[in-house]
Amino acid sequence: METREAKPVIVLFTFPLQGHLNPMIQLANIFFNRGFSITVIHTHFNSPNSSNFPHFTFVSIPDGLSESEASNPDVIDILHDLNSKCVAPFGDCLKKLLSEELKAACVIVDALWYFTDGLTENFGIPRIVLRTINLSAFVAFSKFHVLREKGYLSLQDSQADLPVPELPNLRMKDLPWFQTEDPRSGDTLQIGVMKALKSSLGIIFNAIEDLETEQLDQALKEFPVSFFSIGPFHRYVSASSCSLLTQDMTCLSWLDKQTPNSVIYASLGSIASIDESEFLEIAWGLRNSNQPFLWVVRPGSIHGNEWIEILPKGFIENLEGRGKIVKWAPQPEVLAHRATGGFLTHCGWNSTLEGICEAIPMICKPSFGDQRVNARYISDVWKIGLHLENKIERLEIENAVRTLMTSSEGEEIRKRILPMKETAEQCLKLGGSSFRNLENLIAYILSF
Ligand code: UDX
Repeated sequence: METREAKPVIVLFTFPLQGHLNPMIQLANIFFNRGFSITVIHTHFNSPNSSNFPHFTFVSIPDGLSESEASNPDVIDILHDLNSKCVAPFGDCLKKLLSEELKAACVIVDALWYFTDGLTENFGIPRIVLRTINLSAFVAFSKFHVLREKGYLSLQDSQADLPVPELPNLRMKDLPWFQTEDPRSGDTLQIGVMKALKSSLGIIFNAIEDLETEQLDQALKEFPVSFFSIGPFHRYVSASSCSLLTQDMTCLSWLDKQTPNSVIYASLGSIASIDESEFLEIAWGLRNSNQPFLWVVRPGSIHGNEWIEILPKGFIENLEGRGKIVKWAPQPEVLAHRATGGFLTHCGWNSTLEGICEAIPMICKPSFGDQRVNARYISDVWKIGLHLENKIERLEIENAVRTLMTSSEGEEIRKRILPMKETAEQCLKLGGSSFRNLENLIAYILSF
């Protein structure tokens, strides 16, 4: 049997948010299956359950976040806090690991760890970055300076539907910007991330090149760095979940009782939150559609509420089993279930890709950042979903669900997503784009 010492080691540094943790751990599994030994560095905050991955070595570093900092509703603030507080602990950890691991081939860091720019290189170890968004959103982010200079990032509502000349598929309201108390905080993040990407030895994407060829060409023009689109990660190996919240497995037995393709699955991901009125409008819209629904409402995701206590008395009982609300679901299994026929989504890239891989058409309700770009691609470019463009109202939700699930327009959308699912399958097979890119990436890493 091969010993750990005989294998080249890859050190991965995960970012402690669900949408970043999932693809990084999936990537670790991909490398493990290709003969690498895996060391995962993670923060105490939102740490993955290491017992689900006994084949990896986990190393935890103190992140110094206080309780109030860790529960700050402004994620951009948390992000900056982590980047300033983890410099010394990460450096110490890497130094220690490198003194023990003679064969460490490279470090792969999440792009949000912008402080690592130059740091790993000081230790003499190559740095590759995982960017968890797709290429279209990446291109939009990479034009940040121009967009800011031209004032597009602070336009009035009346200009929201204007096209963006520099990004022909997008409207002004789709630009991947973050509403923060202090706009400079979002700018600092972009500047830091871009700089750290440009100085890296390569960028890995959980994306499919064949779906975004133009965007790849554009990105390559702006970035003097090697690109490796090797997605969809979750399709390489079936691995344990690294869910930070407990997945409610009763979703699956409930789905078993539903008719094939009848259920609309609704989830707004791991960060987005909504206000009370939006929540109630979605609730009534789903109910009035008369379509069975499975709805993930994350605790704390409705402003000012613990969970779903503001639902009118009797709402759940009156559904008579036609709707189910849970705190967190085994999403990949839900999307793969034969009963699931539509996905009301915030359009996070992991969710979007998971939906494409199961050929589930979508209803888009993006919140911030890359979700807006993804939503526009889903509705207007790939045409595999409907876009809730206006204020969230029950009738709009009801109509969108009906259209997607029961109309001929919905049927057309369903047909268009099938070739995308096929592309997502083919790209991983011998000669496919992700297959080739992964081979190139491994050869590249071994050449360091
Ligand atoms: C955010 C961004 O929007 C996203 O585009 C970026 O790439 C990462 O950060 P997030 O809100 O976490 O992401 O959404 P998403 O990217 O869709 O990731 C959520 C993950 O949680 C998915 O892998 C999904 O399967 C999982 N999930 C979600 C569950 O396991 N259960 C649930 O109930 C909901």
